[in-house]
Amino acid sequence: MWTKFPLSVEICHGVAKEFATPVWLYDANTIVDRLKLCQVFDTVRYAIKANSNLAVLSLLKEHGAVVDAVSAGEIQRALMAGFVGTSEVPGVVYTADVFDDEALALIKKYSIPVNVGSPDMISQLGEAGIKVPLTIRINPGFGHGHSRKTNTGGDLSKHGVWHEQLSQCVQKAKELDIPITGLHIHIGSGADLEHLALVCDAMLECSKVLGSDLRYISAGGGLSIPYRKNEEDAVDVGEYFKLWDETRQKIEKQVGHKIRLELEPGRFIVAESGFLIAQIRAVKKMGENLFYLIDAGFTDLVRPAFYGAWHEISVIARDGRPLDEVAPVIVAGPLCESGDVFTQEEGGFVVTRNLPLAQVGDYVVIHDAGAYGATMSSNYNSRFYAAEVMWKENAAKLIRKRQSFEHLIANELLQMRRY
Ligand code: LLP
Repeated sequence: MWTKFPLSVEICHGVAKEFATPVWLYDANTIVDRLKLCQVFDTVRYAIKANSNLAVLSLLKEHGAVVDAVSAGEIQRALMAGFVGTSEVPGVVYTADVFDDEALALIKKYSIPVNVGSPDMISQLGEAGIKVPLTIRINPGFGHGHSRKTNTGGDLSKHGVWHEQLSQCVQKAKELDIPITGLHIHIGSGADLEHLALVCDAMLECSKVLGSDLRYISAGGGLSIPYRKNEEDAVDVGEYFKLWDETRQKIEKQVGHKIRLELEPGRFIVAESGFLIAQIRAVKKMGENLFYLIDAGFTDLVRPAFYGAWHEISVIARDGRPLDEVAPVIVAGPLCESGDVFTQEEGGFVVTRNLPLAQVGDYVVIHDAGAYGATMSSNYNSRFYAAEVMWKENAAKLIRKRQSFEHLIANELLQMRRY
């Protein structure tokens, strides 16, 4: 069932008062619901980058997910959350186009399988004497995404191994006695079913290069969510699975044994669970334009400023009064930066949104903010990371404290004392 958490006035008031604004609120049930929808695939490998909070990771682990990590920090989060896995289904896979020394050391220490995104990575594993099982992330020569910045295929993308270089990689790994057991394609975030047929064909073609060494294929992530609920439909995961399952069966016939099918979603699992709750701190007119200036900025949620991404916005009165009158409004943040606007389109064009007429002290709620929200936050203007709260078993639980000034400057203080 497609559950959507009905954020009530009471919950919004309660969370804002207890934890201060801005604050992230995630609904645990929505996360588990979306994970279950994906579990038609043999394995759901959650992409940590979408939301890396340890409580979110623990919840997903409890319900049978494994994870994809893209940095040493994400590997450490995964290990801390207890993703162990089995030899057949590893708890953590490292996917990247490069290694750094910290990631390599963790991969060696914990024998973490790698989803390789460049031929040089194979040589570097060889040099470090690491023989973990590999997947090759293939760039099939085309890509797709909700923005140019989320398209991860084609010859202008830095991601993956160019499809024509696959045989070369297989050869190199053989020489180094490193097993390649899987193939992976992720062409971008916001992909749709039309592109999927092309991706499946590319996977089928590439599987011929690996032959019977192939044990599993990964469909990557990229499943979109309906940010504009009135205009966009939710992805039909069953249909998505069907296309991949057909491809899997064709590959099984080719190789003569079972092939495990993985999905690697991030956004789909967590986006709709999340809300960014902020408070209106100023209501002002600029010529004919009405602005609500709120206490969250692109330091909290960067998606509108970075991609022109559209998020549903609602207003909740501080005192519970009815908000009947609607007007075109520009919603902006507190940063010393003109691009700090939540109502903007790709290219930085500021637009208005019809919202209830509100006052200072009322709350603005930004919806579908559970993916690529907190994980893309920054400390620009020395603003603190907001608190994260999870709604679970009918109660709000603090899962990350708001960052303190002391924490913000901790590493600098050491330097100051030295000089
Ligand atoms: N697997 C790989 C190899 C990826 O590169 C990504 C996303 C995923 C899985 C998960 O994709 P998802 O299912 O979440 O679409 N910050 C952007 C999205 C960038 C995604 C980067 N890679 C946004 O806010 O839309």
